[in-house]
Amino acid sequence: MKSIASAPAKVILFGEHFIVYGGKAILCAIDKRITVESELVNSGIIQVNSTLGTISIPKDEPIKNVDAKFRPVVFVAQKILKRFNSESGLKIAIRSEIPSGVGLGSSSACCVAAASSISGLFAKPSKEETLKLALEAEKTVFENASGADTASCTFGGIMEYTKQGTKNLNLAPKFQLVIANSKIIHSTSKVVSRVKQFKEKHPDEFSLLCQNESALIEESLEALKANDLKKIGEKMNVNQAHLQKIDVSNQTLDSMVQLVKNTAYGAKLTGAGDGGCIVVLVDESNLKNTLDALSEYECFATKIDTVGVEQKV
Ligand code: PMV
Repeated sequence: MKSIASAPAKVILFGEHFIVYGGKAILCAIDKRITVESELVNSGIIQVNSTLGTISIPKDEPIKNVDAKFRPVVFVAQKILKRFNSESGLKIAIRSEIPSGVGLGSSSACCVAAASSISGLFAKPSKEETLKLALEAEKTVFENASGADTASCTFGGIMEYTKQGTKNLNLAPKFQLVIANSKIIHSTSKVVSRVKQFKEKHPDEFSLLCQNESALIEESLEALKANDLKKIGEKMNVNQAHLQKIDVSNQTLDSMVQLVKNTAYGAKLTGAGDGGCIVVLVDESNLKNTLDALSEYECFATKIDTVGVEQKV
């Protein structure tokens, strides 16, 4: 029997980095997915095939010895096989529509889809169980992950996230998002460490920025609930300025944001920064002009995913 599950990519609309220090973030799942197909096999092997490569290892290989690229998936596989006292091995295939390493949550979506797919071989997990396991898996490679990405990929929709939990905003948004990819691969953990150093070096400035960011998030929530695109866009621009101040934007991202200044409602980098993607707020009226303005970059229009993780079998 095969068990198939998929999970969506995500963007952070507001609050990245500040969330690590107890703030609130607003995330939005988008309609690009990663699919994990798993199958029990009569061998003592865990095999993973993905666009990142292939790995075939004894099923009880110590997790620290496993290549970081595959570690979260292998962690999920080992944990589930143990939980259900299974003698089998596992064959896992991963297919992704989500570019990796550019802030769209590909690794979180992979952890979520893997947790759901592999658990599904034994018993259908709840979304809460899937999230718990996916976050544990993600922490095998990024110990300080806030959990925001995994929550968004699990539940879908637009959500408010704090380390205490998630709240789906149940919005019926009238906007679309354009994502443009700088193609500069970033390391989230490196950027997060750099922000920590910034905080230690400039404690007063950082604390003021945290306060400003929380006020901004409350105003953005109001604007989102009112579907006031002009206001949401303005708030995104202010958020971009906060991210520039903590030095996680760069020239490429700043110039991408500038390119859509006159076409879109607003734009900012999304995720850790240092590269990766920008997210741009549009609707039907300015979608085409915005895509044209960004034509030198890989960019696409996206809709909000309201489903989250989904089991196919
Ligand atoms: O690069 P991404 O999309 O994985 O974004 C990470 C978001 C941070 O706030 C920078 C870190 C975190 O764990 O929330």
